[in-house]
Amino acid sequence: MQGHSVTGTGPRTGTWKLAHARSLADPAGFWAEAAAAVDWTRPWERVLDDSAAPFYRWFAGAELNTCHNAVDRHVARGRGEQPAIIHDSPVTGSITSISYGALLDRVARVAGALRDLGVGKGDRVIVYMPMVPEAAIAMLACARIGAVHSVVFGGFSARELATRIDDAKPKVLVAGSCGIEPNRVVAYKPLLDEAIAQAHHKPQYCVILQREQQRAELSPGRDLDWAELEAAAEPADCVPVAATDPLYILYTSGTTGQPKGVVRDNGGHAVAMTWSMRHVYGMEPGEVFWSASDVGWVVGHSYIVYAPLLHGSTTVMYEGKPVGTPDAGAFWRVIQQHKVAVLFTAPTAFRAIKRDDPEGTHVARYDTSSLRALFLAGERCDPNTLDWAGEILGVPVVDHWWQTETGWAIAANCLGLERLPIKPGSPTKPVPGYDVQVLCDDGEPVAPGAIGRIMIRLPLPPGCLPTLWGNDERFRASYLAAEPGYYLSGDAGYFDDQGYLYVMSRIDDIINVAGHRLSTGGMEAVLAGHPDVAECAVIGVADQLKGELPLGLVVLKAGVSRPDADITRELVAKVRDEIGPVAAFKTVLVVPRLPKTRSGKILRGTMKHIAEGTEYRMPATIDDPAILEEIQAAFADAGYAQTR
Ligand code: COA
Ligand code: AMP
Repeated sequence: MQGHSVTGTGPRTGTWKLAHARSLADPAGFWAEAAAAVDWTRPWERVLDDSAAPFYRWFAGAELNTCHNAVDRHVARGRGEQPAIIHDSPVTGSITSISYGALLDRVARVAGALRDLGVGKGDRVIVYMPMVPEAAIAMLACARIGAVHSVVFGGFSARELATRIDDAKPKVLVAGSCGIEPNRVVAYKPLLDEAIAQAHHKPQYCVILQREQQRAELSPGRDLDWAELEAAAEPADCVPVAATDPLYILYTSGTTGQPKGVVRDNGGHAVAMTWSMRHVYGMEPGEVFWSASDVGWVVGHSYIVYAPLLHGSTTVMYEGKPVGTPDAGAFWRVIQQHKVAVLFTAPTAFRAIKRDDPEGTHVARYDTSSLRALFLAGERCDPNTLDWAGEILGVPVVDHWWQTETGWAIAANCLGLERLPIKPGSPTKPVPGYDVQVLCDDGEPVAPGAIGRIMIRLPLPPGCLPTLWGNDERFRASYLAAEPGYYLSGDAGYFDDQGYLYVMSRIDDIINVAGHRLSTGGMEAVLAGHPDVAECAVIGVADQLKGELPLGLVVLKAGVSRPDADITRELVAKVRDEIGPVAAFKTVLVVPRLPKTRSGKILRGTMKHIAEGTEYRMPATIDDPAILEEIQAAFADAGYAQTR
C-alpha cells in the first residue's frame, strides 16, 4: 500500500469562504459570471426571477441549446478529434471511442429521426437503455430538438416503467433490446411490452437499439429499428429553447409508491454543470472524467453525460461492475487505460472492492498515476471506506452530498476552489450557491453538534429542481411547506464547530441500497397487495456491502394455513417483479404482530435498532411492550443481531 495524506490545505486558502459568501450575498452577480462559460442564443432579462417566489427561475428570458453547448461548440472550437465518450464494456468485451465530431454526427441524425417521428419542442421521450453510448446520444438528441427526456433505470420493473409512462406521457420510447448483468442478459423488450400494456398512455413509437447479445422481436407499426432510423435520417439542427424550459424529468423515490418527477431546466443546469466541473472537481477541458454509475440515476445524468460534455472533457461510460468483471482490479485497469483524472462513484463500489481485495493488491498491477482525486456520493460514506480508498490510491478522497433534486453537490470539498482538510464522515462544507442550515422542529437553527433537519435557504442555486413534473403542489408540499423560505432536504445531520456538515440519516421512509434510493413505503404497498398479508412493514437494516438492505415483516391474515416459506418466497418475487431486482429485497419474516404506538403507528425505528443490534429506548408511547419480545425472537431466529 502507498502512504499518503488526505489532509492539508492547498495554496489558495480562503477561496472557498470568499466564493461561498459571495454566492449568498450576490447570487445574481455570482451566477451571471459563471454563465459566461455557456453559449446563449439570447441573453437573459433577469438572472434570478423571484416574481413567483417560493418558485424561482434562473436566467429568465434567455435562450440556449444544451446539446449545442455539450457537443457542437466543442467541434467548432477544435475538439472534433478529441474523444467525447469512451464506452468501456467488460461485459461485452469491447471498448469504443466516439470523438466529439462523430458524436455530433450521430446525435444530429438521431435528433432528425426523432423529429421525423413527430417529436418536437416540449414533447417527452422515455429512454430505457443500458450503459451504452446510444443512451447519451438519445438524451442529447432530445435536447437538440427541445424535447424532454426521461431516462428510466434498466433495473426497474415493467410496473415502475408503466408508472413513469403514465406520468410523463411520452410520444416515443427509446430502448435497448437488452441489458447485460454479469450473471445474465436482461431482455428489455418484454419489460417494455408489459409496461406499455399496463400503462393507460400509449406511446406512438418505440425505437429499439438491437444488441447482438439478445435481439428483440419488433412489433410492426409501433417498433422501429434504431440503426435503420439513424442511417436514413437527415441531421437536425439545434433548436433554441428558453433557459427555463425543461431539459429532462428524472423520477426518484418519494414517500409514497408514486415516484416524484424531478424537473431540470436547460439554462441553470448548463451553468451549474459547467461551473461544478472546474470548481468542485478541479477538471480541465480535454481531461478524462469517469463517473462509475448508471445513466438511469442522477449521477449518470449529471456526471456521465452532461457536465463532462458541457465542459469539453472526455467521459467514460463503463458497462461493468467494480468486482467480477473480471476482478477487483477492474477500476484500476480503466483508470490506467483511459488516463482518468477524476473518478466518481458510490462508497458501496469501494466496499465491494475492499471485500474482494482487502489489501488492495490489484492496484500495484496498474499505473493509476493519472488519477488526481476520487469523489464519493450517493449514500453516507463510512470513514473506514474513505480511509481505505485514500490509502490504496494515494489521492484525496472527497465525500460529497447531493440528491436527485439538486442535480449537483450541496456539500463538498471543492478541490477546484481550495482543498480544505478532509474529515472522514463529513462531506465537508456547503458548496457555493447553497445556504445550508440545520433547523430543529420549531424552525430555529440548532447549536453546532446537535442533530436537526438539514434545510437549504431559498433560492436554491441554478441546476436544482424548479418543480415536479406537472405537480407544483406536490413540489410545494414535499419540499417547501416544512419551513417557509427553506427547501427540506429530507436528510438529518449536524454542523460541527468548524462548519463541517455531517449527513447522518433520512427523516422519511427512504433507504439507500448500494447507492440506489428506494422507498420502503413503496415496498410495503407491494407486500400489502398479497392476498395473505394483513399488515406489513419494511425497514432498512445496515449492511456491510450495500449500506442498507430492506427487511420485510408481515402479519398474515387469520386463517391462512399455507406454509410461511411459500408465502415469503412469493413476497420476495412480487417485490422483484413490481419494483425491480435493484430493490435487493430478499428477506421477509412472518411475525405474529407488529409493534405500534398507542395511536397505531408502526415502530419501524425501534425494529431497525433491534435488527441492527444497536441501543434503543423503550418508546414511551408503545401499545404493548410484549410485542417487542416477539420481534426480537423472530430477528434472532433469522440471524439478526439483538441488544437493548
Ligand atoms: N438492469 C437490470 N438489472 C440490474 C441492473 C440493470 N441496469 N442493475 C442492477 N441490476 C440487478 C442486479 O443484477 C442484481 O440482481 P440479482 O438480484 O439477480 O443479483 C440487483 O439488480 C441488485 O443490483 P446491484 O445493486 O447492482 O447489486 P449487485 O449485488 O449486483 O452489485 C455492487 C453490488 C456494489 C457491486 C453494485 O451495486 C455497484 O457496482 N455499485 C456501484 C455504485 C453505483 O452504481 N451507484 C449508483 C448511484 S451513484
Ligand atoms: P439520490 O437522490 O438517489 O441521489 O439520493 C439522495 C440521498 O442519498 C440523499 O438525500 C442522502 O440521503 C443520500 N446521500 C447522498 N450522498 C450522500 C453523502 N455523501 N452522505 C450521506 N448521504 C448521502
